[in-house]
Amino acid sequence: MSILILNGSNSQSLGERIAISLGLKFENVKARIFPDGETYVRIESQVKGRDVVIVQTMFPNQNDSLMEFLLIADAVKGMEAQKIIGVIPYLAYSRQDRKFQPGEALSIRTVAKLMKSVGVDKLIIVDTHYQHVKPGEFDLFGLPCINLSAGRLLLEHINEKVSDDLMTIGPDLGSSQIIKYATGEEKIMRKIKKCPICGLPAEKCKCKIKKKKYEITEVESELDFNDRNVVILDDIIASGKTMTQAVKKVKSEGAKKVVAAATHGLFMKDSLIKLKELTDYLVVTDAIYTPVSNVSVAPLIVEVLK
Ligand code: R5P
Repeated sequence: MSILILNGSNSQSLGERIAISLGLKFENVKARIFPDGETYVRIESQVKGRDVVIVQTMFPNQNDSLMEFLLIADAVKGMEAQKIIGVIPYLAYSRQDRKFQPGEALSIRTVAKLMKSVGVDKLIIVDTHYQHVKPGEFDLFGLPCINLSAGRLLLEHINEKVSDDLMTIGPDLGSSQIIKYATGEEKIMRKIKKCPICGLPAEKCKCKIKKKKYEITEVESELDFNDRNVVILDDIIASGKTMTQAVKKVKSEGAKKVVAAATHGLFMKDSLIKLKELTDYLVVTDAIYTPVSNVSVAPLIVEVLK
């Protein structure tokens, strides 16, 4: 059974890398946005009876890249593809993985339903934020998924680039899976939420304010960073706030070199520049393309597709 790799517009070089490593044919799907904002795609390869792997990460332009993925999947289903596998290193909407308030959409469930409805059989994703699931297989509202972790690849790269004498720590609870998988330990910092009125930690505060009004002002850790080379490893850098607080903490406690690393670099606003200035080395993967995507997730995906 022959396999075809179809690359969406967000992941052309990653898809090419995967296809070349596997010795498979690939096509960069013709996709464009019409002047009115709608998405157009066209697949030129022969698809009938083949297993098709669609490579499309979903940042930037989450909605357009999701729509493009759905159109490609539906088109290949119509062209009688045998099996459709989505390789989506960054799965958009994974952070809306529950209803935080009544009436909210459970966005990731909607995304899973859409993918299933156009015939996607399986997803391969990397360090998803969804429910902080462990690396391995899991079920996304009826859609079989494999979650891979890039933590070890990032640490190997940092070992070569910066130092092999490193202490690795996660900046918050959300980093616990990537930290555990990469290091076998669970060294993570804790964020302390403080009341903006009395300044006490949320659990000690008696002021009657809404829970979400508590500010995250500090991070806590019992570890000794003095004179150590410290890697702060997370699944995502989005606004950069979590990573910045963690970097400042270890620097203020005497760390020698500080490296910030994450699988997904969304780098909102000027957080990339600021984190570069603040750290000795900043690195993310090509799950999302950025100027500091110095580690590729291709080997992880190739291993699974084999
Ligand atoms: C949280 O659970 C995650 O592990 C990340 O720490 C978080 O999403 C990063 O967000 P930001 O960069 O906006 O602080």
